[in-house]
Amino acid sequence: MAIKPVLRMGDPRLLLVSEPVREFDTPELHALVQDLLDTMLANDGAGIAAPQIGISLQLVIFGSPTPRPNPRYPDADPVPFTVLLNPQLTPLSDEQADGWEGCLSVPGLRGVVARYSRLRYQGFDQYGQSIDRSVDGFHARVVQHECDHLQGVLYPMRLSDPRAFGFTDVLFPAVTA
Ligand code: NI
Repeated sequence: MAIKPVLRMGDPRLLLVSEPVREFDTPELHALVQDLLDTMLANDGAGIAAPQIGISLQLVIFGSPTPRPNPRYPDADPVPFTVLLNPQLTPLSDEQADGWEGCLSVPGLRGVVARYSRLRYQGFDQYGQSIDRSVDGFHARVVQHECDHLQGVLYPMRLSDPRAFGFTDVLFPAVTA
């Protein structure tokens, strides 16, 4: 389909609360999923949310459709490729963990964010099949980051410590931004 321009922080569309998807398995929805996938892969993203390409719908994709490690997150545990619509997140404990995050809408930067360590997520795929998983670690972090986009929240709004925020190539000289 198409690689779409990714909206960058400062664009007011990234601050909108997204609408639920009401019709599944439509040509328009499949085209949107393909655009998101093309755009995520072109940018080596770990995930992307529909609002990041200007579509205010509760739709995120994340994980890797191929077994190769993500060059932007080379040390992260692999996350299965997932298309998630109308998600509901439920923390499975109060435990949170700090971790570095980046975002295709905040290019070139990384920051430390506290996220729930374990959570359950429920929702639907693009065909309307229900999804119900309990996950932890990087998988849990990615889901929370992507679903934040559906509430108009970008990770710099959640920094654990504003001093743990900076340019990727300065913070991690060995990693390509
Ligand atoms: Ni993001």
